[in-house]
Amino acid sequence: MMGSRVRIVFLLLAFLFARAAEPIAAAAPAGSRHLTKDERWMNQRLDHFSPTDHRQFKQRYFEFLDYHRAPGGPVFLRICGESACDGIPNDYLAVLAKKFGAAVVTPEHRYYGKSSPFKQLTTENLRFLSSKQALFDLAVFRQYYQESLNARYNRSGFDNPWFVIGVSYSGALSAWFRLKFPHLTCGSLASSGVVLAVYNYTDFDKQVDSPLRA
Ligand SMILES: *[C@@H]1O[C@H](CO)[C@@H](O)[C@H](O)[C@H]1NC(C)=O
Ligand SMILES: *[C@@H]1O[C@H](CO)[C@@H](O)[C@H](O)[C@H]1NC(C)=O
Repeated sequence: MMGSRVRIVFLLLAFLFARAAEPIAAAAPAGSRHLTKDERWMNQRLDHFSPTDHRQFKQRYFEFLDYHRAPGGPVFLRICGESACDGIPNDYLAVLAKKFGAAVVTPEHRYYGKSSPFKQLTTENLRFLSSKQALFDLAVFRQYYQESLNARYNRSGFDNPWFVIGVSYSGALSAWFRLKFPHLTCGSLASSGVVLAVYNYTDFDKQVDSPLRA
């Protein structure tokens, strides 16, 4: 099954990274399942591809800077996919962030959780929901956050090394982000990235169906 495969890859990665760094339990605020659940907001453009439509919506994001080796340390952009994003989980990425002195930031995907541009999800309103728009959201967020870091450290025009990370759908976004915006990132981790689009992919349903019947 897709889900368990993703989990296995995740566990494998967590295992490998945990061996490379310190034990997971020691990496982050003791006992906490999240590095942070402190909500922040930015104004995001609704349609990145219209020269005339300047509407915006509120996009939620999270930041964790406790491990950041200021001012030049890397920034891990943890991409949220097709579900609500309520914080930054305290998982293997926290271990890596501590090891590399990285900041961790996570914007919520448009149309999910609290980052929906519309109250009513009608077909008409859903037309701005696409991976392409989401990729440009990430690029805008990346620039926005870099400027906020620069303001915090009292400097301008500086670029920290940015590394993007995602799993499954957000893994695909992570790979595409690196392809589309190579100047905005120094690397990408696409864990179980679903980068191959297959029209009417009924084999997926069969995969899900067969263990349910077993
Ligand atoms: C920021 O940098 C400028 C120019 O070096 C300096 O005048 C100013 O005091 C600095 N502000 C802070 C908050 O450090
Ligand atoms: C999708 O594939 C199934 C099985 O091959 C087929 O019966 C169905 O007509 C296809 N639907 C579309 C919209 O192409």
